[in-house]
Amino acid sequence: MSRAIYPGSFDPITNGHASILKSGLVAFDEIVVAVLDNERKRPLFSVNERIEMIRETVKEIGADPKRIEVDSFGGLLVDYCRRKQVRVVLRGLRAVADFEYELQMANMNRHLNEEIETVFIMANDAYFYVASNLVKEARRLGGDVSGLVPEAVARRLDERFGPRVSDESAPSSDG
Ligand code: PNS
Repeated sequence: MSRAIYPGSFDPITNGHASILKSGLVAFDEIVVAVLDNERKRPLFSVNERIEMIRETVKEIGADPKRIEVDSFGGLLVDYCRRKQVRVVLRGLRAVADFEYELQMANMNRHLNEEIETVFIMANDAYFYVASNLVKEARRLGGDVSGLVPEAVARRLDERFGPRVSDESAPSSDG
């Protein structure tokens, strides 16, 4: 059975991540989505919230939950891979800008454990420029990010940031 670990901050998961996950399931029997537990990155969402949003996204995209494990990890990714007995790391590639960072990480991981291979899947072009940080910034400033994130994430962003600018100016339903 082929297994891969799909690691990331997922703060929060976007439709870009979701499309990589879907494509990943074409290539692998099972995928472990591994959320980095690192408070130093000052995440917007707690690890538990991020895990919940990923689980809800798995349902939204109609993926088989039996083929996806959602977990969290701290420390080195290669150590986590060893603990899970998985030798393939799955990462998504978007625009060229991702390439250098991904190359550095893949090489560092190979240096740390040469038995672990990184496999890249190209992001769907509709989401080529979708990044969690940009989504958070746009939504925080009142922008509409629906269509870029799963419903479960859009809901949580609404709870965090309150009504969007356009919602506030819309006439209320009672007159
Ligand atoms: O979604 P991100 O933030 O681009 O994911 C980055 C992640 C979590 C894959 C990377 O930061 C990571 O693997 N962190 C764990 C620490 C580690 O192993 N570092 C050495 C490899 S660069």
